[in-house]
Amino acid sequence: MIDLTQTPAWTALKSHYDEVKDLHMRDMFAEDEQRFEGFSAHLGDILLDYSKNRITEETFRLLMDLARQAGVERWRDKMYSGEVINSTEGRSVLHVALRNRSNTPVMVDGEDVMPKVNAVLAHMRDFSDRVRSGEWRGYNGERIKSIINIGIGGSDLGPKVVCESMKPYAQRGLKAYFVSNADATHLVETLKMVEPESTLFIISSKSFTTQETMLNAHSARKWFVDLVGNEKAISSHFVAVSTNVEAAKKFGIDPANVFEFWDWVGGRYSLWSAIGLPIALYLGMDHFEALLEGAHQMDRHFYETPLEKNMPVILALLGIWYNNFFDAQSHAIMPYSQYLERLPAYLQQLDMESNGKTIDRTGNRVNYLTGPIIWGESGTNGQHAFFQLLHQGTKPVPSDFLIPALSQNPLGMHHRVLFSNCLAQTRALMLGKKYTEAVAEMKAQGMGHEQIEDVIAHKVFDGNKPSNTIIFKKLSPRTLGSILAMYEHKVFVQGIIWNINSFDQWGVEYGKVLAGQIQEDLADPVDVSHHDSSTNGLINYRKWVYFDPLNHE
Ligand code: F6P
Repeated sequence: MIDLTQTPAWTALKSHYDEVKDLHMRDMFAEDEQRFEGFSAHLGDILLDYSKNRITEETFRLLMDLARQAGVERWRDKMYSGEVINSTEGRSVLHVALRNRSNTPVMVDGEDVMPKVNAVLAHMRDFSDRVRSGEWRGYNGERIKSIINIGIGGSDLGPKVVCESMKPYAQRGLKAYFVSNADATHLVETLKMVEPESTLFIISSKSFTTQETMLNAHSARKWFVDLVGNEKAISSHFVAVSTNVEAAKKFGIDPANVFEFWDWVGGRYSLWSAIGLPIALYLGMDHFEALLEGAHQMDRHFYETPLEKNMPVILALLGIWYNNFFDAQSHAIMPYSQYLERLPAYLQQLDMESNGKTIDRTGNRVNYLTGPIIWGESGTNGQHAFFQLLHQGTKPVPSDFLIPALSQNPLGMHHRVLFSNCLAQTRALMLGKKYTEAVAEMKAQGMGHEQIEDVIAHKVFDGNKPSNTIIFKKLSPRTLGSILAMYEHKVFVQGIIWNINSFDQWGVEYGKVLAGQIQEDLADPVDVSHHDSSTNGLINYRKWVYFDPLNHE
């Protein structure tokens, strides 16, 4: 077994860290007027500015050595060529094939998968066109006005972030809802907003066995049948997206309305597959294809561009620099765009479910940190919630700021205010405020010596807090596709360097098994004692309330 922390590239970075850890970005900017030019990369209209990072040219070179040592290019080629790189599940990892707009053959088990991919896209176009044009009608001839996607995890977060971000492109009069939670409130509150006659349900589940999704799907079907009083009407109002076509049919979905995808598409990488059906319905297939085009552009960039100019590779290496050498525990995502409000939640699953691993690809426990905690909030809201900790807290939090140069809603001064706040934050995080500057500022405000002495320590900012800024012209389907694919490849590169399998999720499976056992315990009023005392106590409390109506108030 090779110990990553003892490899030449890692040890070189470790000693380099000791040399540069106290350098301040403020000085680096002062010494090099070309720092922005040197530390920025672009693709199409997307510009990545990574100059506000605690790196020198030497750091950058050593990080690239680490990527080469890990064989990032070799692993990327394996992924693109359909090799079984998801070793614990014995699967290829081919979300790139779903958006392979050049249509070059992509082989899985000796078969080119592109004809299948294109057939499903054609099915999605036909169906979404018919619904959007009003040719597809509900059982009593009403037009479809509401789409409810029932799914969870990758079968929810991806289509949801795209539909919410792309509202300006949506068809008027069509609403998209997403129901995921096992808490009935999610379904019940959503159903209050719609009429059965004009609602289309999409049951989205790769496995078609996920408990929450099946529960919501059955409850939605019951609600529908109870209201319309006609089982046959189901075929006009329920469609499914799954790799498990048989189970979808068993649920009662007309086989013609089951949209297929394949086990070489990971759940959290599936929005580009038929799981994107809500996107195609809400935005139209042309916009869904523009999203695929954008992702394909990023796929090509990742494949063709030297590592030094490769945006996902650069982001991945910077993440590793902070995660493994500065011991940063988390990474914040700050979209300065209300439309991208759900991006942090989407990236949480993408990153944390992929790289939240302790065992490496050879089955050994790692002795270094792997995936960071991903969190964040849209700007400017986050500024008034947690930015204080970023500026003056004790924890290093590297972050990504995303911002469009043009707003979809050019209203008065709004975008200028939004934009200036975004840049002000990254600048303040980088620069900080020196003692002398703080004193001068307070003197200028007319404060006396004693007053200044009292508060000066609180007015000084260390700065030197790293951030990336990702700026693009306007939030279009194409740009969004590129951004989401950029993060997918970033996560991939980090997984390769940490030598983990980014494509399984065994931890999630364990929770599902325990939930099944507890569910059985909850069925009768007799107290349980076979779990740990905490779990017993909580189960028995619920029994005490639930089984005795006197305790319901
Ligand atoms: O959360 C675990 C998980 O397996 C995810 O990987 C997946 O996206 C989600 O459950 C939903 O799974 P399915 O699409 O099979 O219902």
